[in-house]
Amino acid sequence: MRREYDAVIVGAGGAGLYAALEASSAGRVAVVSKLYPVRSHTGCAQGGIGAALGNLEEDHPEWHAFDTIKGGDYMVDQMAARILADEAVQAVYDLENMGLPFSRTPEGLIDQRRFGGHTRNFGEAPVRRACYAADRTGHMILQTLYQQCIKHEVDFYNEYFVVDLLLDGSSCVGLVVLELKTGELHTIRSKAVMLATGGFGRMFKTTSNAYANTGDGPALALRAGIPLEDMEFYQFHPTGIAGMGILITEAVRGEGGILRNRRGERFMEMYAPKLLDLAPRDLISKAILSELKAGNGMRGDRQIDDYVLLDATALGKKVVEEKIPDIADFCRTYLGIDPATDPIPVQPTAHYAMGGIPTDVHGRVLGAGGGACPGLYAAGECACVSVHGANRLGTNSLVDLVVFGRRAGRHIADYIAGASLRPLAAGSEDGARDKVKRLKTGRGAHGGAIREAMQKTMMEKVGIIREGEEGRSAVAEIEALRDEYRGARVDDAGAAFNTDLLELLELENLLDLALVTAHAAARREESRGGHTRDDFPERDDARWLKHSLVRLVSGVPEFSYKDVDTSLYPPKPRVY
Ligand code: FUM
Repeated sequence: MRREYDAVIVGAGGAGLYAALEASSAGRVAVVSKLYPVRSHTGCAQGGIGAALGNLEEDHPEWHAFDTIKGGDYMVDQMAARILADEAVQAVYDLENMGLPFSRTPEGLIDQRRFGGHTRNFGEAPVRRACYAADRTGHMILQTLYQQCIKHEVDFYNEYFVVDLLLDGSSCVGLVVLELKTGELHTIRSKAVMLATGGFGRMFKTTSNAYANTGDGPALALRAGIPLEDMEFYQFHPTGIAGMGILITEAVRGEGGILRNRRGERFMEMYAPKLLDLAPRDLISKAILSELKAGNGMRGDRQIDDYVLLDATALGKKVVEEKIPDIADFCRTYLGIDPATDPIPVQPTAHYAMGGIPTDVHGRVLGAGGGACPGLYAAGECACVSVHGANRLGTNSLVDLVVFGRRAGRHIADYIAGASLRPLAAGSEDGARDKVKRLKTGRGAHGGAIREAMQKTMMEKVGIIREGEEGRSAVAEIEALRDEYRGARVDDAGAAFNTDLLELLELENLLDLALVTAHAAARREESRGGHTRDDFPERDDARWLKHSLVRLVSGVPEFSYKDVDTSLYPPKPRVY
């Protein structure tokens, strides 16, 4: 392994790969990933990437920006959303030019479909904005960017896990990684480090997220003293396979699928008369919960909790096989049904973190005083440039990672051209070495038991609906689990491919993030987007139109706040 790089990118999803590709124009770049790159979670993004190409009907980036801001319940930084929407168009054409096999119209243009909250003319009616490659859009982005990185001689360290960030004051000067194959620790010096580690849905019991989504980047940042932004806003996607959480893309509804309750009613008519099944996700997830609470859910025959039905039978076999082939496959494999003839049992599933590591629009990480930490970058789901606010619109995750991954890569290229490698302090691996040693000698509960308890608490008490008292008890339960973690045991004390140890390291990250999420949710006394408080059911702009920032100081949360940029569209009540 080379020990010195101009830039090291942690994570091989879309944001990391795009940043690596851009930064490679200016120096030696490595990507460190705990997975083989094309297994990164970007590959699970199914339905599309939003861009106002206007290929099938009139559309404009202003409309995309407005939908993003309104969808985010006005917690979005509006100039950042404008950048997202403006640059999405060229980003999609650039991906096309790199060879991404988008689905096409009969005329050969990139095809576009409807998605939740995407509208024409500032909310009038749904618009076709999501560019797609069947229901494998993220998979195709990942393959395309990985090929480009190989072509541009980016070095890949696959199956390496980052244990420590090395900082000199607020500057990032390198990192310590664990080689999973051998169990050895390595230190890498680098002028710049970028965190692109994706989300942390694995803190919840039912999730669409891969096992690898354990929030490694935000947890590293938090332990380095960087406050995390808007952690209370977590999105539940309305349509996970009931009892499993596996994502059933919103594109099913974009192609005409309908949500129905036990009586066969299209219940979204009551909750969002204009956008119906294509309302934003927070509204649909809450509508499903209301239906279940009213006794309108399906129950009993599948031995799982209540669920509703996603009826795609009107699409017909040809459309199902052409436009949502992977979904058809999932339904056959996991449910033994054919979505062209049988409705799909669905339930909300933990899907996406709107909050994360605060950055500016160049991907620079913002430290405790609000200033940029030299040499430290973040992009993608692990970051919070604040384009999703309190609720992300479908397809904007892929837009975020290509637009802001690329921007971060470009900034890194400029930065490394003028920066030099900094010396590392003596013993820079010591902290990581001590941690690994300590984790191998614990005698307490196995990490797996602690993880299950955390997931249960987070699901029941910090899920779609949060209640004040429950929120406080969630904090206490997560704190107790963090105490238990200190003595947690692994059953495998070996060096090579010790996945028991890896899972314990990941669990520390999840627990830290669960703690700040639970604290932030208990503190925000209003309901907005993906954060719903039973005891504070209204949005409260007077008190809470502000971003939260939380740090852990000796395990105790310290909150501060910053303004939301509302310079384009003044906040209004959301009506769909
Ligand atoms: O429903 C979906 O295809 C998910 C897309 C997204 O989260 O943006």
